Amino acid sequence: MLTLGKGSGFGKVILFGEHFVVHGVPGIVSAINSRAEAEVRITSGKIEISDERKGAKGYAEEKKTQQIESIERMLKTMGLDPKTTSLQIMLGGNLPSFSGIGASAASSVAIARAIAEEYKKVMSDEKINQIAYEAEKAYAGNPSGIDNTAATFGGLIWFKKNLKGGPNIIERLTIREPIEIIIGNTGIVANTKAMVAGVAARKNSKAKHYDRVFKQAEELVSTAKVALKEFNLRKIGRLMDENHSLLNEIGVSSKELDFLVGIAREQGALGAKLTGGGGGGCMTALTPTRELQEKVANAIEQEGFKVLKTVIGI
Ligand code: MEV
Repeated sequence: MLTLGKGSGFGKVILFGEHFVVHGVPGIVSAINSRAEAEVRITSGKIEISDERKGAKGYAEEKKTQQIESIERMLKTMGLDPKTTSLQIMLGGNLPSFSGIGASAASSVAIARAIAEEYKKVMSDEKINQIAYEAEKAYAGNPSGIDNTAATFGGLIWFKKNLKGGPNIIERLTIREPIEIIIGNTGIVANTKAMVAGVAARKNSKAKHYDRVFKQAEELVSTAKVALKEFNLRKIGRLMDENHSLLNEIGVSSKELDFLVGIAREQGALGAKLTGGGGGGCMTALTPTRELQEKVANAIEQEGFKVLKTVIGI
């Protein structure tokens, strides 16, 4: 009988601290209500991937090499030899493959879970998270681990990378009720690896300036944690705006991202910022109430950009 392993992983939106998180500053991430789904079948032949995810034009083509490397890394971490393993991998789900919303991490988690099921290996979420982290290295070079953590566990998470290689701090946060957000896609497929490497290089060459910005980012994320706990929406929004400015200072925004952030603010969003690796990819805006969410989403769509309407804190 032919068997089929199945698995899924959450998409995510980083609310505070992308890029800074790679260097040990805490970040806050929320899973969103969209997932990547994978089905895996052991075959005879080679590894074949059919990527049916809907998303940015060119995403699948652009990420092909990184995707193959990520699957090889994943197999090795699972004790399988990529040279002798043959699998048919089908990727789908309702998480669009936009840059910035954890499409790669969600797919890695989905595939790892599906492979585990197909090989009848029982794996804890912690193990799946570790496998997905290894896979993420193909996409992000030196990832913090925040994306795969959100993709594996879901929910709203305070995350701090352990720079010494020990366990990361992963703390679950709760808020009074889910909050509507929008995610606007610039349509530009971003290379997270290059963006992460760029920040690291500039952090070295402009140490004094970057130390100051990193310190501000660290203070900001702690303030944001309290604002989320207090459900102070205006403050959360204002801190998102400030976070966007800091991301601009470290050179990871783009004119398209700034344009979409500007529209969201004009339309009444409480705050807006780029989310994820930047350099293209996505922005997010805090739009509590369905009406405000609709209004901001429509304004961005009218400019010809794709929008995802979702919530944080589920
Ligand atoms: C990408 O979603 C988030 C980055 O901070 C990279 C990472 O943390 O691995 C840019």
